[in-house]
Amino acid sequence: MNKTDIPAAQKAALSLLIDDHRKVQKAFRDFAKAADGGSGGRIASETCAALKAHTELEESLFYPFVRESDPDAFGPLIDEALVEHDGAKKLIAELERMHPGDALFEARFTVLGENVEHHIHEEEDELFPALIQHDVDLSELAERMRARQAELVR
Ligand SMILES: [Fe+2]
Ligand SMILES: [Fe+2]
Repeated sequence: MNKTDIPAAQKAALSLLIDDHRKVQKAFRDFAKAADGGSGGRIASETCAALKAHTELEESLFYPFVRESDPDAFGPLIDEALVEHDGAKKLIAELERMHPGDALFEARFTVLGENVEHHIHEEEDELFPALIQHDVDLSELAERMRARQAELVR
């Protein structure tokens, strides 16, 4: 989803999430390029920390607000998103118990990236357009998301 296409009522909240998405997508690409260069371990640990902050931001504020705004319209999409977050959290917990040189570390991080890519598409191509279509006002939520994000990424 392109940020310039987002109406004012949804723009701040969705742009914040899209910026997070682009950062982790770039990190997974950087990891793929650096795999043999030695910086992969640092990229992986920074990316896992960024993903944990992003999922926490969505689960503590964004998802509950979206669900409550119209449970029939958004409940199933939010449930699916939560299951995908759970899958990512399991892989992140496994990666955090491993060292970058371990067998399957690179494979596990690569699979995490593929799962995250799928999840980002579900959010940006299904959930976010539905919020725009239903004209859900996210402007006040965006303020709370910004404040929470500042705490999470300190
Ligand atoms: Fe997201
Ligand atoms: Fe998400």
